[in-house]
Amino acid sequence: SPVKVKKIVCIGAGYVGGPTCAVIAQRCPDITVTIVDINEARINAWNDKDFHLPIYEPGLEDVVKSCRGRNLFFSTDVDKAIQEADLIFVSVNTPTKKSGVGAGFAADLNYVELATRRIAAVANSNKIVVEKSTVPCRTAESMRVILEANAKPNCRFDILSNPEFLAEGTAIPDLHNPDRVLIGSLQTPEGLEACQSLADIYAHWVPRERILTVGLWSSELSKLAANAMLAQRISSINALSAICEATGSNIDEVAHAVGHDTRIGPKFLKASVGFGGSCFQKDILNLVYLSESLHLPEVAAYWRQVVEMNEYQKSRFSKRVVDTLFNTITGKHIAVLGFAFKADTGDTRESAAISLIRDFQKERANVNLYDPQVEESQIWQDLSEASPELPLETIKKQVRICSSSMQACKGAEAVVIATEWKEFKEIDWEVVYQSMNKPAFVFDGRLLVDAAKLTKIGFKVVTIGRGE
Ligand code: NAD
Ligand code: UGA
Repeated sequence: SPVKVKKIVCIGAGYVGGPTCAVIAQRCPDITVTIVDINEARINAWNDKDFHLPIYEPGLEDVVKSCRGRNLFFSTDVDKAIQEADLIFVSVNTPTKKSGVGAGFAADLNYVELATRRIAAVANSNKIVVEKSTVPCRTAESMRVILEANAKPNCRFDILSNPEFLAEGTAIPDLHNPDRVLIGSLQTPEGLEACQSLADIYAHWVPRERILTVGLWSSELSKLAANAMLAQRISSINALSAICEATGSNIDEVAHAVGHDTRIGPKFLKASVGFGGSCFQKDILNLVYLSESLHLPEVAAYWRQVVEMNEYQKSRFSKRVVDTLFNTITGKHIAVLGFAFKADTGDTRESAAISLIRDFQKERANVNLYDPQVEESQIWQDLSEASPELPLETIKKQVRICSSSMQACKGAEAVVIATEWKEFKEIDWEVVYQSMNKPAFVFDGRLLVDAAKLTKIGFKVVTIGRGE
């Protein structure tokens, strides 16, 4: 009969491991959850007595407060936690490979493999090993081979795939009330029993009909497919936004009209300066690599275009800024509002703001940057990585980090909205207008402001997906 899980360890205390396993601890008081990481600073932050947690996520602090020290623990003692657990989540990073075979496309599975080898090396009882990280198809098979080749006698490992679908900024509501939980397993009696053990954990708070159980490979592929299809909708609407700008139609109206078709639906049709985040691009490139490895070049080309359209959208937007500002921004001051890849997160991975600022720097503009959440050190790191040819001192001469929108906009020629933070909706544009150089421009990359109202104040407003 299925093992009743009493102790869980999660390897990887990042954006996924932290929130998902904190919610499991909150909803399953009968289970002890330990989240481990090799990054000591991160673990210390999770244990911070004032709850300055390592990631910003609305509602997360309350979840951690409700169970940390009760049945939720954060630790760097990876081996001990592995030994004590019945079930192990592997939730480590799987970035795009930077070198070697598949560089620029394939997922770097080194972290998954190291974690798997650690499990094999130290485990001295049966474990259910759950792949939580997003991985290429058949990674679970590689994990099984590694575990079995290194297992101690009488140690059995059952491997499950349980991809995560939370979105940053809404992680806690997504976890509390998921559209579905997906569990993939081998269709053997042991595989199905392990699947049952994991399903029983989620059933503490997720209705059974939303817990979908499938084969291992389907589960792995479904994760890549879901992200590819979500990103494809954004690239489709962004492609249409270019047509709108050229024809004077309005992308919001088009999206509204199209999304009213119940077969299409209204979500993920918001035109933007381009999608960011750690996963969409990475997972699509992963799918492209998989397709190519399977000798399906047409399939690879199809999905690759989703990423190419996103690159086009980002560069098209920065070009529009330069064109509109009389074809030169050299020496001009541009206020960039927002640096995170979306609102309600401090995460900047693949943020469109990074490419925009890099482009503005190339044109030798001065950038006044404000974001309500992102740490200053993160901004410098991202901008340095985006322009490796520039020394940090040069970047710091061109970019000034400001502590408010007002401060960023003062004396600027143009405001560029890069992230849809709610507080940017509440800006007092009358006051901002008074403080700016004229003519004063607003470039809305997020369809956030009331263009008619701003135009009335005196701004020249340029919006994604709207003709001049
Ligand atoms: P992250 O970089 O925030 O966290 C990963 C953590 O794993 C890091 O803190 C790292 O130190 C730790 N780690 C790496 N190797 C380790 C080891 N051997 N032992 C112990 N700790 C180790 O990454 P993330 O954003 O949480 O993403 C994790 C996975 O989840 C990725 O595969 C990602 O594609 C997937 N995913 C992410 C999201 C998201 O919104 N960020 C959503 C769904 C799925
Ligand atoms: C995305 C998926 O939504 C999650 O289901 C998935 O688990 C996750 O990737 C992952 O695998 O990492 P996330 O990247 O956190 O979540 O955030 P999204 O809300 O999907 O936004 C991604 C990017 O697309 C952001 O830059 C956002 O601003 C942009 N976006 C989103 C648009 O430009 N238009 C839209 O209509 C929606």
